[in-house]
Amino acid sequence: MEHKHSEKKMNVRLKIWRQEGPKTPGKFEEFSLSDILTDMSFLEMLDVLNEKLIHEGKRPVEYESDCREGICGTCSLMISGQAHGPNRGATTCQLYMRSFDNNELITIEPWRAKSFPVIRDLVTDRSSFDRIISAGGYVSVKTGPHADANAILVAKDLSDRAMDAAACIGCGACVAACPNASASLFTSAKITQFALLPQGHPERSRRAIRMVDQMDKEGFGSCSNLQECEAACPKKISIQNITIMKQEYLKAAIAADFRAGMGSADGGA
Ligand code: SF4
Ligand code: FES
Repeated sequence: MEHKHSEKKMNVRLKIWRQEGPKTPGKFEEFSLSDILTDMSFLEMLDVLNEKLIHEGKRPVEYESDCREGICGTCSLMISGQAHGPNRGATTCQLYMRSFDNNELITIEPWRAKSFPVIRDLVTDRSSFDRIISAGGYVSVKTGPHADANAILVAKDLSDRAMDAAACIGCGACVAACPNASASLFTSAKITQFALLPQGHPERSRRAIRMVDQMDKEGFGSCSNLQECEAACPKKISIQNITIMKQEYLKAAIAADFRAGMGSADGGA
């Protein structure tokens, strides 16, 4: 990553969204920090802020993190209007202060989406994603001895594409970046990772219908192909997955209609 300036330390001005709880109105609060190391991570800088606030007897800023290495998807912040900050293909925890200018005013907000309600400050409730997964984002397996690794052959290009889709970490940046707050990129990645592999085929129709229906039930908006999701995604999940999701859903819906038609024809016979 390129250094914007040569100083080892910098001053930071922060404008952070503060909100006591889901039902209370929030507002921005401004803070400033001096002598922040330019090689400090963004989350370490927030840790420094919170230590200062605690020292002053004030309530620290609530934000989430876990792995701090780009794999868990919890560190979801809107930073100066960009999901996960200014760097492409990186999560908030992979962002370093050297990506900002000295004295730059940095605005930090939670994800803004009806289906991700704010719990407190920068923490949102993203359990809507969990419910989409519960609706069908799995492959049912019988327990017992595992099969030989080469028992089911998978073409290399399909396994590569499935692995690319499986890289989604469920962070929600795609929803936050989308003007419609659509969860299509997330849901499509989770559908595609199974749809492309033979192990995912037995449940593919049920999976597509249930996950897309759950996405709609959770109140996410629809996809109008603006591609903001792909640009914001720290794992560079491709919007081609959305095309696959639409195909999977359409095939499943037609098959369901056909079966229903056969059922009524049988019933009438
Ligand atoms: S598709 Fe990308 S932006 Fe959306 S939840 Fe997955 S990793 Fe995050
Ligand atoms: S803390 Fe896990 S991805 Fe950032």
